[in-house]
Amino acid sequence: MRLVRVDWVVDDMELARDIPSAALGAAPLLKRGVRLTRGLAARLSGHGVRAVWIEDDMGDGIIPIQPLPDHVRTSTEVAVAACLDAARGVAADLNNLPARTFEQLERAAEGMMRALAECPAATLAFDDLATADSYSYSHSVRVATLGLLLGQRIDRLDGWVDFRGQVRHDRMVERMTQLAMGLLIHDIGKISIPETILNKPAPLTPAEWDLIKTHPGAGVSMISDDRISPLTRCIVRDHHERWDGLGYPTGRLGEEIHPFARIAAVADVYDAITADRPYRAAAPPHVGVRLIREGADSQFDAHVVDHFLRIAMPYPVGYTIPLPDGTPGAVVGVDPEQPEYPVVRYRDPSGQLTEAAMHIVDGVVQTGGAAASPSDAAAGAPRAAAA
Ligand SMILES: [Fe+2]
Repeated sequence: MRLVRVDWVVDDMELARDIPSAALGAAPLLKRGVRLTRGLAARLSGHGVRAVWIEDDMGDGIIPIQPLPDHVRTSTEVAVAACLDAARGVAADLNNLPARTFEQLERAAEGMMRALAECPAATLAFDDLATADSYSYSHSVRVATLGLLLGQRIDRLDGWVDFRGQVRHDRMVERMTQLAMGLLIHDIGKISIPETILNKPAPLTPAEWDLIKTHPGAGVSMISDDRISPLTRCIVRDHHERWDGLGYPTGRLGEEIHPFARIAAVADVYDAITADRPYRAAAPPHVGVRLIREGADSQFDAHVVDHFLRIAMPYPVGYTIPLPDGTPGAVVGVDPEQPEYPVVRYRDPSGQLTEAAMHIVDGVVQTGGAAASPSDAAAGAPRAAAA
């Protein structure tokens, strides 16, 4: 299968995956197997769907790795929705959330962690654009997915440092559950900010920015309960701090920021860039990857960015990319060592499907790209995630 933008859909394309509804628990907008038309595609666009997975010969055999199974993603979104509802109930005085809300979230966090632990050392699947779900729920779950993949990778490869300065490799399940909890509710404090400001389709005034900057502190106030781990609270409090000390709310600098909050910062910003927002359309993954890479050592911890660049590919498997002659190509494999040189399947002038590594810069295939890899990847580029 391959992912195409809805404005590239042509009549009779076969839908390869259900398109979920914006409403939690509601029937899908469209079921897999449906034959699409330009008219249907236009209606999907009206529902906020920007891209769809289709089945055709160009995408034959491409099975993008989906780190989080649909049922885990849905149950996690339900838990986050319940948590936000409960938080709205106590927002007036910023009291603690009810115990049952934490228990439901904790179960969701453990479910995510188990699902992602079984995921092979994979590049991030590119399925976000195929959904039209509510931003606050899906943003939390996507940030938690990316943040957990990052956290698991860092803990597995580097371990963690305790208060004695010793590197350790134990307590991974406990630590990752706390990381997942923090990622799922990192923005809980935003319920104290008017929706008109959160969803304002124009630049914020200085006063509105000052209000936005209160959400980490408001969130911490809601989770002061002793049952919430300090690690989880660190993420809520510090996910907008920057490595160079120019973040908010307190301007913590470098290693003063907890490692989990540094992971959350990368995951939060990447998802914010690559998701639709009221004030701008989603950017493609290569833009998100570039901006995170450029933020290393200023906005972000460069060590976390290094790990991120092994997980998030600028041109993920299944991605459809326009070729210089205007015809489509589908990414069938990507080597994390050379992410700018994915293997692309395309139709040659005789109509035969062909595959070659192509050099892509800022979303544009470089002419002569079929042989452009620095290591002659065209001859046998690794196919990290293609079936
Ligand atoms: Fe935030």
